[in-house]
Amino acid sequence: MRVAVAGGTGLVGALTAEALRAAGHETVVLARSTGVDLTRPGAALAATLTERLAGVDAVVDALNVVTMKGAESEAFFGRTTEALLAAEQAAGVGHHVVLSIVGIDRVPYDYYAGKLRQEALVTAGPVPWTVLRATQFHEFAGQMTQRMALGPVGLAPRMPVRPVAAAEVAEVLARLAVGEPRRTVLELAGPAREDLAAMARRTARTPARRGDGPRFVVPVPVPGAFGKGVRAGALVPAAPDLVGTQTFAEWLGGR
Ligand SMILES: NC(=O)c1ccc[n+]([C@@H]2O[C@H](COP(=O)([O-])OP(=O)(O)OC[C@H]3O[C@@H](n4cnc5c(N)ncnc54)[C@H](OP(=O)(O)O)[C@@H]3O)[C@@H](O)[C@H]2O)c1
Repeated sequence: MRVAVAGGTGLVGALTAEALRAAGHETVVLARSTGVDLTRPGAALAATLTERLAGVDAVVDALNVVTMKGAESEAFFGRTTEALLAAEQAAGVGHHVVLSIVGIDRVPYDYYAGKLRQEALVTAGPVPWTVLRATQFHEFAGQMTQRMALGPVGLAPRMPVRPVAAAEVAEVLARLAVGEPRRTVLELAGPAREDLAAMARRTARTPARRGDGPRFVVPVPVPGAFGKGVRAGALVPAAPDLVGTQTFAEWLGGR
């Protein structure tokens, strides 16, 4: 099959494209670095997408924007999803698979406003669809601490998560893309519950995983309604449809 991966140069998108190619499928990568800016609607984008989506059977959306602002998140996920769905409908693409996050409808959080908009457009849209909601990736604790760092010290929220390997998320996306549209929301979680602040501290103590991130981590409580919701387990699915196998400790150790 021929599958386009929007965001196919990103963390999970690149792994998805790799998994598809390993299974013998052709891939088309849609990203700014491959000449497609999905936030710039107009005739030029429509023409580029018509060309790139020719003969494509399915599209996986693994796009992302790094923002803490609800309006920016909604604008990004709204615009990119509308652009993709319109082009897919015109090109006769038969399946749109989107990567979302477990619990986005259970807690108020600005970034999640964009993910909810993305899901709403897909599930009400013209292209047969599947939504995969995954829990936080093993990388997430380190990424978050890096974004909330001053020099060598980073802050990490104390909250329960059930992290999953990005590579396993990618394998599931690749499998879903070459299957029939499910027209349902599936949940994928990792094998075990962890505390995000403890994950951040362990990442900071593991040079191979820390990268340019902070060396020291200060755990902080999460305030407000978001904090209350996540402490009650909003991001931890009770009975996920799919469960990954790689633990956080295995990922840390490079296994
Ligand atoms: N992080 C987590 O723990 C987690 C958990 C569950 C689900 N998710 C979801 O997983 C998805 C992917 O996350 P990720 O961390 O793998 O993303 P990422 O590494 O930040 O990659 C983002 C991708 O989007 C592309 N992109 C950004 N702006 C674009 C634009 N205007 N036009 C076209 N392409 C654009 C980037 O390529 P260019 O820069 O070349 O444009 C890149 O390929 C997100 O939607 C996120 O909500 C994340």
